[in-house]
Amino acid sequence: MLDHEQVVVRTGRRSRLPVIVAVHSTALGPAAGGLRLWHYPDWRDGLTDALRLSAAMTAKFAVAGLPSGGGKAVVALPEGAVLEPERRGAVLEDVADTIESLGGTYTTGPDVGTGPDDMAVIGRTTPHVFCRPARLGGSGDSSPHTARGTLAALRAVGRRLYGTGRLDGRRLAVAGLGRVGAGLARLLAAEGAALTVTDVDPAKRRIGDELGADWAAPDEIHAADVDIVVPAALGSFLTRNGVAELRCRAVVGPANNQLATPDVADLLHRRGIVWVPDYVASAGGVIHAVSVEVHRLAAEEARARVDAIEDTVSELLHTAESRGRTPAQAADELARRRLDAASDPAGPSAA
Ligand code: PHE
Repeated sequence: MLDHEQVVVRTGRRSRLPVIVAVHSTALGPAAGGLRLWHYPDWRDGLTDALRLSAAMTAKFAVAGLPSGGGKAVVALPEGAVLEPERRGAVLEDVADTIESLGGTYTTGPDVGTGPDDMAVIGRTTPHVFCRPARLGGSGDSSPHTARGTLAALRAVGRRLYGTGRLDGRRLAVAGLGRVGAGLARLLAAEGAALTVTDVDPAKRRIGDELGADWAAPDEIHAADVDIVVPAALGSFLTRNGVAELRCRAVVGPANNQLATPDVADLLHRRGIVWVPDYVASAGGVIHAVSVEVHRLAAEEARARVDAIEDTVSELLHTAESRGRTPAQAADELARRRLDAASDPAGPSAA
């Protein structure tokens, strides 16, 4: 069964590349979610990614308590393809046309492979775009806010496990040094955490050196001897076999779709490892963008909402423990309740 409201797949008129927009749910409000410009062995893998990522966005907004729905856009690039600037522009215009044709049902933002400058290009065709550079009236790069929100989630977990939200002296392994991962690693280093880092791009080693971090191989970092592992790259970081090799007490990070399969959450729980659902820990970016651009909140208020991820995670961990659930189940149930209440004819007050 398709549990998405709408999925558009088109060959871009200019780029001839597959443009995919998945609108999972608008039960809470118009859908939002980033544009992923990434390589896939087959465009169908991009479609699968868009379906999963958009569903996660629905849960992300529901748990964050924001009146937005879940969507995602993916442009599936062939393996090894490099987009020179002109072709990139063509891709972005193709995406913009598709978004505009949805008439506001879906608003895009940055994601893996895109940033504020790309949003500026999309914004020339459609108003349904978040995170354009500030000079163009947007809220700018979302990645510092995603990093800040993840730090809030880490504090909640630290408090739970060690009785303090301070992370100085804790050992953390950050897997992925893209915009969010590198920003988060910097925040953690500034606080005095001992870091192990990695990235599939060996050039990122420079960032690790700058932060005094140890470097691990990308396919080994999950097994690092640390307190908390922080997935900050592409999805499916946690596999059934990988969980058996973990030595940490918690896994908390900003990467979307961290679990290779849903049952991995139960395996983690059985091993006594705290896993904060990715869609809870990674919500800072969208919380900031929507708060500033839709709800017109001032910067400090938007930041306060991002920091409130700490309370959300603390409550989830508490609820999970008191009801004998995994944090993943507790978060799913919370999202489900909020979505059901919104589609209930008796109205949201029935929540
Ligand atoms: N990449 C962001 C996420 O996964 C998507 C996003 C950011 C969408 C900011 C809108 C605004 O949450």
